[in-house]
Amino acid sequence: MNIVLLGAPGAGKGTQAAKLVEEFKMPHISTGDMLRAAVKAGTPLGKKAKTYMDAGELVPDDVIIGLVIDRLQEPDTDVGFILDGFPRTSAQAVALDAELGKLERPLDAALLVDVDPEVIIKRLTSRRMCKECGYIGSVADESCPKCGGEMYQRDDDNEATVRNRLEVYEKSTSPLIDYYRGSELLVSIDGDRNPDEVYADVKEALSL
Ligand code: AP5
Repeated sequence: MNIVLLGAPGAGKGTQAAKLVEEFKMPHISTGDMLRAAVKAGTPLGKKAKTYMDAGELVPDDVIIGLVIDRLQEPDTDVGFILDGFPRTSAQAVALDAELGKLERPLDAALLVDVDPEVIIKRLTSRRMCKECGYIGSVADESCPKCGGEMYQRDDDNEATVRNRLEVYEKSTSPLIDYYRGSELLVSIDGDRNPDEVYADVKEALSL
């Protein structure tokens, strides 16, 4: 199954993707994770991306589109994939359609995790992630409940940057909701409930 996850920053895309990966062993392609890995490794891409990420702005389309297209050539995606955080602009959505057309692997669904912005600000300013395994938790987790690793706060999870990320989302990414509604791929889930309840709806919406 080929899925795109849509939703504002902090809506719970990564949380739901982790559950799908654990149960269905599908590759999780998160552009945010790929960029953070490049930043950590200090690559030229990482150095370029960090300025945009720290400000809550989008990394330029030409940088990110190539990264995703390369990733889609990897053989593990033959069984399907979950794209998380991509596409985020109309240009990215068009480039994705073109590439999937070439690969003869069309999307099966664009899943929107829908959450109110004020809920999101609280969630993101209290989010903590594991340095070792990437587990997504909260300030309540002193160490990673999964692997015992050290938890940290993302540089872009302070309130001012979160507010800018939400503005960027409204302007650049939310128009994609209509884009996918137009191609009848859009399914929308209420993401403002317990993560397990949200996941039950995700599976039902995807007929999994
Ligand atoms: P990215 O890493 O993609 O960040 P994002 O879209 O802002 O999404 P988040 O990871 O912040 O949130 P999420 O929806 O995954 O929520 P999560 O599950 O973690 O991108 C970061 C930056 O990289 C961008 O700003 C940009 O600069 C750049 N970038 C990335 N992709 C790009 C692209 N395609 N083009 C250009 N630039 C790009 O959950 C959040 C918190 O809420 C957690 O603490 C979690 O435990 C909690 N939570 C989750 N679900 C629930 C629930 N149901 N109830 C209560 N709490 C919940």
